Amino acid sequence: PDPALTRRAADIDVFDEELAQRIARMWDVMYEAGGVGLAAPQVGWSARLLVLNPEGSRDDTSGEMVVINPRVVKKWGKATAQEGCLSFPDIFVDVSRPAGVRLQWQDETGEQHESDFNDFVARILQHENDHLEGVLLVHRMSPVDKIRWRRELDELAAGAAAG
Ligand code: CO
Repeated sequence: PDPALTRRAADIDVFDEELAQRIARMWDVMYEAGGVGLAAPQVGWSARLLVLNPEGSRDDTSGEMVVINPRVVKKWGKATAQEGCLSFPDIFVDVSRPAGVRLQWQDETGEQHESDFNDFVARILQHENDHLEGVLLVHRMSPVDKIRWRRELDELAAGAAAG
């Protein structure tokens, strides 16, 4: 129910030391939680920024990406795979998405990039990009999965309301 998670996040237009420090904190949160991606709205910051590392570990940072103001300009294929989300701990559901995307984005220095991504990285990018649009795993769940995970979802909502 956190409103930061369900609204469209704002563009980033200042690429400064404060931004670099916020990104460093996001890496800490992502690795401590054992995730492969994290979007700024998940840490209460309504900004169009996500970080990802398909290895999910500081032991291999070769796949680390900082993605700012991303735009999906092309999609292709279709694939279904199980997804989890750090904002929905212990809930895992099958989600169908395009298998690949062409993405335009800025890095932490503001430089523009465009590249094609497929398979697992494309899935992480699309999941985290959903967070920037206020779209959550619960919105991507089938009606059957919503019933199946109702108890866990109710507990999450009750916990958020309590604390
Ligand atoms: Co998520």
